[in-house]
Amino acid sequence: MATLIENIGVLVTNDPANDAGDGSKLGVINDAAIVIEDDLVAWVGDRAQAPDADVRVDLDGQTVVPGFVDSHSHLIFAGDRAAEFAARMAGTPYTAGGIATTVTATRAATTRELRTHARRLVDEMFATGTTTVEIKSGYGLTVDDEVRCLSVARELTTESTYLGAHVVPAEFRDRRDDYVALVAGEMLDACAPHARWIDVFCDRGAFDVDEARLILEAGIARGLLPRLHAHQIERTGAVQLGVHIGAASVDHCNEMNDDDLAALATVLPGADFSSRAQYADARRMFDAGVVVAIATDCNPGSSYTTSMPFCIAVAVREMGLSPAEAVWSATAGGAQALRRDDVGVLAVGKRADFAVIAAPSYVHLAYRPGVALVRATWKSGLQVQSQLR
Ligand code: NIG
Ligand code: FE
Repeated sequence: MATLIENIGVLVTNDPANDAGDGSKLGVINDAAIVIEDDLVAWVGDRAQAPDADVRVDLDGQTVVPGFVDSHSHLIFAGDRAAEFAARMAGTPYTAGGIATTVTATRAATTRELRTHARRLVDEMFATGTTTVEIKSGYGLTVDDEVRCLSVARELTTESTYLGAHVVPAEFRDRRDDYVALVAGEMLDACAPHARWIDVFCDRGAFDVDEARLILEAGIARGLLPRLHAHQIERTGAVQLGVHIGAASVDHCNEMNDDDLAALATVLPGADFSSRAQYADARRMFDAGVVVAIATDCNPGSSYTTSMPFCIAVAVREMGLSPAEAVWSATAGGAQALRRDDVGVLAVGKRADFAVIAAPSYVHLAYRPGVALVRATWKSGLQVQSQLR
């Protein structure tokens, strides 16, 4: 069955074939239409030339963008750290230490509770236009709890990430080498079947570069693909490690100098906002030729937002990106951070994943911060319904 999505005022395709000469990579088509067949895009172009279809959906001149690709989140957890946030806003600095609070709550939660909560967060993501999400473990930190968290993550996404190396849990405080050996050994063996990626929080208060290297190399040997939390709190050399080891993305990147250029970096505006950090200098990265992705980093400590439009707005206001650059980074950039070429672009043969924005332009995603502009989200050719009904 073919579905024609017509009367799209502004269509962002991210397809270089549609270069509109506007200096952006968005491949914008005005007065456009899309045809969907099954879960894929079957046709894209000028509305006037659209082929016939079985079903027609009139978008009344609204804007369509590729579904957001949120390449960094920590959705599997229990508990709440609102008090920690409030203290930070009063001047207490962010540290890795708060993670232990969430680990305690997560271990105490049932798998059903973890699943219900994570689904609620994924529903929030759908409601704000996200169609692909990466989800990390990292609040279990025992073999069983990490497996439990990853098995829930895997129900929700193909982009699940093993983050046993989030922090050294309290019971290993005096024998961190044993914990590193566990993460790179028995825990990895148990978790690898449930994950596509391996990540390490390589920063002050978490893991150093040597530990991170050992863990990532063990993961790679088990067939996992590496990515890395780098330079959020301190310039540890984690970015260079990420480059050396072939990480798909180095994420955070607040503390950077000119030697810290990776091929691809993911900035996390929600984390910088909520931890009162120095904003990552996405402008400088862009200008240096780095591919920049934007993600939410949704987690209960440093960034409790599921909203990619919020992150786009902050990236524009505080990180120096133009609205066009930020929209690209939140869609095509996120797809590259996950090494996916089937999402983040609306072209024939790609997944029919897109968000309908109730606005005359994608610029409104930054121009109208905090406003619920996403009218509908389509994933794999179907309008997304809540998973919680
Ligand atoms: O990406 N930096 C490490 N992990 C998360 C924060 C986790 C937490 O504070 O609970 C992050 O910001
Ligand atoms: Fe993170």
